Amino acid sequence: MGEIINKLNQYNKSDMYPFHMPGHKRNFPTSPLSDFYGLDITEIDGFDDLHDPEGMILDSMRKASALYQADETFFLVNGSTAGILAGISAVVMEHQKILIGRNSHKSAYHAVYLRNADPVYIYPEYSDRVHIWGSVTPKEVEHKLLQYPECKAVFITSPTYEGVISDIKEIAEVAHRYKIPLIVDEAHGAHFGLDKRFPQSAIQLGADLVIQSLHKTMPSPTQTALLHVKGSLIDRDKIKKFLGIYQSSSPSYLLIAGIDEAIGYVQDNGEKLFEDLSANLEKFYLKAKELKFFEVFRGCDRADFFDLDPSRIVIYSKQNQISGKELLQILSSQYHIQMEMAGMYHVTAISGIMDTEEGFSRLIRALLDLDHKFTEQKRKSLLDPVTDTNIFFIERNKIFSPGETDGFNKEKVKIQDATGRIAADYVYLYPPGSPILVPGEMIDEKLLLLIERYMETGLNVRGISGEKEKLIDVLQNDV
Ligand SMILES: Cc1ncc(COP(=O)(O)O)c(C=O)c1O
Repeated sequence: MGEIINKLNQYNKSDMYPFHMPGHKRNFPTSPLSDFYGLDITEIDGFDDLHDPEGMILDSMRKASALYQADETFFLVNGSTAGILAGISAVVMEHQKILIGRNSHKSAYHAVYLRNADPVYIYPEYSDRVHIWGSVTPKEVEHKLLQYPECKAVFITSPTYEGVISDIKEIAEVAHRYKIPLIVDEAHGAHFGLDKRFPQSAIQLGADLVIQSLHKTMPSPTQTALLHVKGSLIDRDKIKKFLGIYQSSSPSYLLIAGIDEAIGYVQDNGEKLFEDLSANLEKFYLKAKELKFFEVFRGCDRADFFDLDPSRIVIYSKQNQISGKELLQILSSQYHIQMEMAGMYHVTAISGIMDTEEGFSRLIRALLDLDHKFTEQKRKSLLDPVTDTNIFFIERNKIFSPGETDGFNKEKVKIQDATGRIAADYVYLYPPGSPILVPGEMIDEKLLLLIERYMETGLNVRGISGEKEKLIDVLQNDV
């Protein structure tokens, strides 16, 4: 057996509890998909065609659109990435403007780049306390559209990786006043709109195009996702055309059947599954009130968070005394709980309908135990108030659109020499994969401090190379 399968088997057999994607949590004993090779085909006669469905795949897509209340749903086997690429490609052409959340996933930037479009950025609110993005406000969308009425669409992410939701209903109304579509990256919200105890989906709240990663929160295989369309502002033929370009021409029937099974499973068992999840979360949050050193994010009381997804659990120390990376590692090594991701000062757990009561109680027990230890230790804050409070989420100065930077030669410079230079590549943390620097943006001192801070707290900053000397890609012919 090869190393990869050995490692997967080892993880599968271990007692590590997965508060991470995929949403089936490797806990779907009733799934008929376990005979991988027996079921692995692509389009052969009699099996319909993902790119031009007429039979069983079309029926299955219709089942999904009825469940989510979309007008039409497309299955994605290349993740939400393919849906975001197709969605943005369908609404902008070369040099046209699109209003886009600056906290978007890199796939949105890639779409803008591929179409050589001109992004106008909208900056969400943010939280100094947890250092995460907040909601995009309808007011800010209106403000930007007044400034740039030529925008062809609005693209925002809701919920974010940390479960922060924006006011989709109001934002859709603003976009529609300008007769342009609202596209929502709902990659982290495939469980929305299916139960009254959880938030509604953007497709039910007036968005025109919504992309959801089924694999993140639903019992569906990795890479599976949905693209929903509603109303007439989106040209569906263009969506089909671009999905034909961005999706594999040999789609896996295991993935397609996985989508169908997940939808069917939730249709048949959703009421009980969501009821159990809701009860487990309620117990978890109630117990979390006992925490003294840590806090579990419940930010709805703050103006910069329109709403939160209760299934996304964000944990941080009250005075930033522990980095996200350290907490993630302690939870994994000492308590055998694997979180989804670490930010600078927080960790995020993905929970969902396939999680068990035992999983939630292991997490809260671990947190209470650590809370006690750290309170005794009287740890000091890791934050340097001089720099940290004002280096996050600063508006970057956009000199060129990402596509325009192709016209320049690139060079690598030491990061300490990069102030005032224009970025030639992305810089981002993965996850979440939302760039802190985009090609065409000016590099400033605050960005460099932020990169330094990320590195000090042990986070993996992509787009910075070099061993001893840290290097960053910039345009050669600065203007
Ligand atoms: C906000 C957001 N959008 C889109 C994506 C891409 O989704 P996928 O991995 O399904 O392609 C991700 C991936 O993590 C994401 O976090």
